[in-house]
Amino acid sequence: MKRSLSGESFKSSVSRWVPARIRNLSLYPASTGKGMLKLDAMENPYVWPEDIRRLWQQELHKVPLNCYPDPQASALCEQLKKWCGLNNNVGLMLGNGSDELIQIIAMTLGGPDRVILAPEPSFAMYSLIAQVIGAQYVGVRRTANFDIDLPALLDAIDEHNPCCIFLAHPNNPTGNLCTPEVVERVLDAAGGLVVLDEAYHAFSRSTFLDLVGDHDNLIVIRTFSKLGLAALRLGFLAGPKDWLAEFNKVRLPYNINTLTQASVCFALHHMDWFEGRAALIRDERTRLLRALEGVPGLTVYPSAGNFLLVRTPAGSGQAVFEGLKDGGILVKNLHSAHPALAECLRVTVSTREHNESLYKLLSEVLAQLGR
Ligand SMILES: Cc1ncc(COP(=O)(O)O)c(C=O)c1O
Repeated sequence: MKRSLSGESFKSSVSRWVPARIRNLSLYPASTGKGMLKLDAMENPYVWPEDIRRLWQQELHKVPLNCYPDPQASALCEQLKKWCGLNNNVGLMLGNGSDELIQIIAMTLGGPDRVILAPEPSFAMYSLIAQVIGAQYVGVRRTANFDIDLPALLDAIDEHNPCCIFLAHPNNPTGNLCTPEVVERVLDAAGGLVVLDEAYHAFSRSTFLDLVGDHDNLIVIRTFSKLGLAALRLGFLAGPKDWLAEFNKVRLPYNINTLTQASVCFALHHMDWFEGRAALIRDERTRLLRALEGVPGLTVYPSAGNFLLVRTPAGSGQAVFEGLKDGGILVKNLHSAHPALAECLRVTVSTREHNESLYKLLSEVLAQLGR
């Protein structure tokens, strides 16, 4: 007998077979923000000028769409290694965005009896992916100004012996960097892997990549997303080759499509252009920080990323978020994301024009709310 898609037996079949840990999850809120000024996802506002676009399109013309991609993305890996100045004893692996690399690491190491650990608040994917794969997730509270609480972190490492520790450098959404002392102490204390997530490296220009290869438990991951190529979905990971050999068994063979491989190879010949845009954003970050610091009632946290964390006056976070949305600007509302982020919004640093629109509307919304 055919079972109807609205029938009770179908619904109970879904809840019977989908494990509770998945059913209890909420869908990750990724918005399209259609028609709005989108300042919620750290997208880079700059696109290639026409002459570079034309050259890029010529490259794409050569891509054979009937064939599977190069599973090792060899040409791209070679170029990337040179660009990063990686030593020969360090391996490189690519992911469909750094999200996928986080997932691959977690799938390789995690399991019901394993702990994945991160200081929090931090990037939501660490805990989400840990839950999806059925590992235990332990978040270690940061200090009041969002620094890593080193004694608490070392105690948690001692207690839980995590298979993997994620340290975002700088941290999303709080914008602050890990100090070299913290990284060294965590590397010494950890029995498992330590992953330095440098998604915002273009804006922090601070890295632990040169330590990879000196420590057998250090991995660094980066992404092209924030540099201005989010649509291509390319992240990369550098680390000891023995770890990568295991990760590669978990990675799906054709995870980087040929259009992305060709596009990033092309982009690597134009890194001066990307660097120039990142420098503009870094300057704008200082300007926007200063402007927002002058808005009564707001607390703004300094950031090494292309975003700022802003705390609105008590009880006003949701209303400010809605006011900005009504005025056509989408930012990230973090109020419910973590207890330490009450009343907090995260805003992407964009062009001067966009940042000024945000500053103006935010000031107006707060004034209307009588704050
Ligand atoms: C800290 C951090 N890591 C990784 C990512 C994922 O980036 P992508 O999957 O676009 O490479 C993000 C995205 O916001 C992030 O904030």
